[in-house]
Amino acid sequence: MPIIKAKNLSKRYQQGNKTINAVDGVNLEVEKGDLLAVIGPSGSGKSTLLMLIGGLDRPTSGEIEINGVNIAKISDAKLTNIRRNTMGYVFQNFNLIPTLTAAQNVEAVIAKRTSHDRKRVMAVLQQLSLDQRAHHLPSLLSGGEQQRVAIARALINEPDIILADEPTGNLDSKTGEDIIRILADLKTKHGKTVVIITHSEYVKKFATKVVEIRDGKITPTR
Ligand SMILES: Nc1ncnc2c1ncn2[C@@H]1O[C@H](COP(=O)(O)OP(=O)(O)OP(=O)(O)O)[C@@H](O)[C@H]1O
Ligand SMILES: [Mg+2]
Repeated sequence: MPIIKAKNLSKRYQQGNKTINAVDGVNLEVEKGDLLAVIGPSGSGKSTLLMLIGGLDRPTSGEIEINGVNIAKISDAKLTNIRRNTMGYVFQNFNLIPTLTAAQNVEAVIAKRTSHDRKRVMAVLQQLSLDQRAHHLPSLLSGGEQQRVAIARALINEPDIILADEPTGNLDSKTGEDIIRILADLKTKHGKTVVIITHSEYVKKFATKVVEIRDGKITPTR
């Protein structure tokens, strides 16, 4: 069973008397352990598709199955649970809380609190080579370090799926490649399923699947 399956998935926006087919009848299957790269021009529907896959938005029509469950139709409470336990999100702008340290940013999103939280936070920061930066505020970190904190935060609840929307968009190309390699390692070494929206050609080195999206429709390229 695919871990992600979209069936005739659509998201339409109404702007005045104009309908925008942001995602238009998408069919897609992603297997556990895949690294899917999503490419396409600005405004083609990449972020909208990622939001639908991640349960951050609801489709207008069609189905989006995560581990065989159609999340288009489940209650908000169930969807919140799936988001918390199954998904890790990484965005272009890092989205760290500026008044919290790296460790506190990661700790803040822990879904099930235990007495080992501190240790788990330090372990995931160490995995991302951030142990020397744990008690720094985001403003004292480089862009690459901030994105690694965001990845640590995405990993703390041990999600099966990592969704990244242009994670290298605000980084220089070398740092961007470091981040792509870290995300690829999550697939290769940790068995995660990873979806990356990117303009970076570098991601194609690691991708098991590449889809191009145009006007809300996808065309498989590999
Ligand atoms: N909340 C919204 N209301 C109305 N239209 C929207 C909304 N969100 C997105 N759109 C429209 O849907 C289309 C797809 O947008 P989307 O953000 O998914 O594109 P994208 O491929 O991620 O673009 P970019 O590369 O610039 O991030 C665009 O035409 C956009 O203007
Ligand atoms: Mg986008």
